[in-house]
Amino acid sequence: MRAVDIILKKRHGEALSGNEINFFIEGYVNGSIPDYQASALLMAICCNGMDSRETSDLTSAMVKSGDIVDLSPIKAVKVDKHSTGGVGDTTTLIVAPIVAACGVPVAKMSGRGLGHTGGTLDKLESIPGFRTDLSMEEFIQAVQAAGLAVIGQTGNLVPADKLLYTLRDVTGTVDSIPLIASSIMSKKVAAGSDAIVLDVKTGNGAFMQTTEDSFALAEEMVEIGIRAGKRVMAVVTDMDQPLGMAVGNSLEVKEAIAVLKNELSGPLKEVSLYLAANMLLTADACSSFEEGMKEAKDALESGKALNKLGEMINRQGGNKAVLENPDLLPAAEHVISVRSDTEGYISSIDTQKVGISSLITGAGRSKKEDKIDPAVGLVMKKRVGDITKKGDILAEIHVNNLKAYEEAAAVFHSAIHISEHKPEPKPLILGTVTRDGVKRF
Ligand code: URA
Ligand code: CA
Repeated sequence: MRAVDIILKKRHGEALSGNEINFFIEGYVNGSIPDYQASALLMAICCNGMDSRETSDLTSAMVKSGDIVDLSPIKAVKVDKHSTGGVGDTTTLIVAPIVAACGVPVAKMSGRGLGHTGGTLDKLESIPGFRTDLSMEEFIQAVQAAGLAVIGQTGNLVPADKLLYTLRDVTGTVDSIPLIASSIMSKKVAAGSDAIVLDVKTGNGAFMQTTEDSFALAEEMVEIGIRAGKRVMAVVTDMDQPLGMAVGNSLEVKEAIAVLKNELSGPLKEVSLYLAANMLLTADACSSFEEGMKEAKDALESGKALNKLGEMINRQGGNKAVLENPDLLPAAEHVISVRSDTEGYISSIDTQKVGISSLITGAGRSKKEDKIDPAVGLVMKKRVGDITKKGDILAEIHVNNLKAYEEAAAVFHSAIHISEHKPEPKPLILGTVTRDGVKRF
């Protein structure tokens, strides 16, 4: 087999065989196929696509490039959840404790934030002492003892994805449904859970900006999961504005704690409960979505989920007193209000810009190596559809550096669109994809 023939075949729009895909991925990871040939194949995939069978074969080839986590010592159906990335999306910190409090173990590997999106690991590490670098033994012990643990991707998990993602980033080949679906699903399959609930974001803060593309990505990922023998479903949710009000690491942890203490409702809580109910259902821990929803709400309202988060923080070396006293979390030196200079309805919010504004405060990374400041970020005070008067506070920006404030405030201002017309309300949860098909709400 020759790499060039595989590139030509895809360039001509033909489907690649499983053997061809394996040959290419193995060759790329072991160095016998160079970057320029891998780049050419990625571009051909971007232009001509892949069918579901090819995308599944690509995913399996990527999974096989590294280790697969063995969670079999945990004797239960393990459930994982993955969000395709967003702004102010702190659902993992709420959902994992809810599901664990309902008796279903959550063994989760999370990522770091990059660009305008946040990452669960960075948020958790804003809790003093919290460790995300548990060894595999410690990870499994933590799940056995507390019912949940969240750590960073360990060891040699899907090396093919690390190489391909770096190449995609610099060759204009990131936004291709088969490439995104195989990248995400290879990591989920290698992470070893039995059941997976995917939260596919749609809108101006998401990878997929249109509803059509978001459902197409969700369908592709569910198909891959089924072919890999996993129980899997996807929920498509709105990312046309940040999900919660807080954007920034300790600020988002505070918001998640407030939800778990029943001090705060809104879209973050709504999506969290919806995902938790679907995780219980997908793990077969309840007989209907309605029952799952009831169990999830009970776990939240009774405080059991908050206690679970406390157990997790404790097991992972963190100071669980932050639950009683969130002021123990890192706080920024300055909190400065951004005010509206006109009146009207908040007609739309450019979510990417809100994420970038938070990044400028120091909460995010432009490059992988960048250091983040856990204390900084912003808290929005208005959402789409709200009325603002001139002088009303749109957001509070938390900074340790006043120069960063100026720039972050300017970007935040440019993200908020105000109009005299009330915008059409949009649904928060747009639909689901299961093995039984697509449901649009
Ligand atoms: N997240 C991933 O892990 N991979 C992609 O390709 C896109 C989002
Ligand atoms: Ca049950």
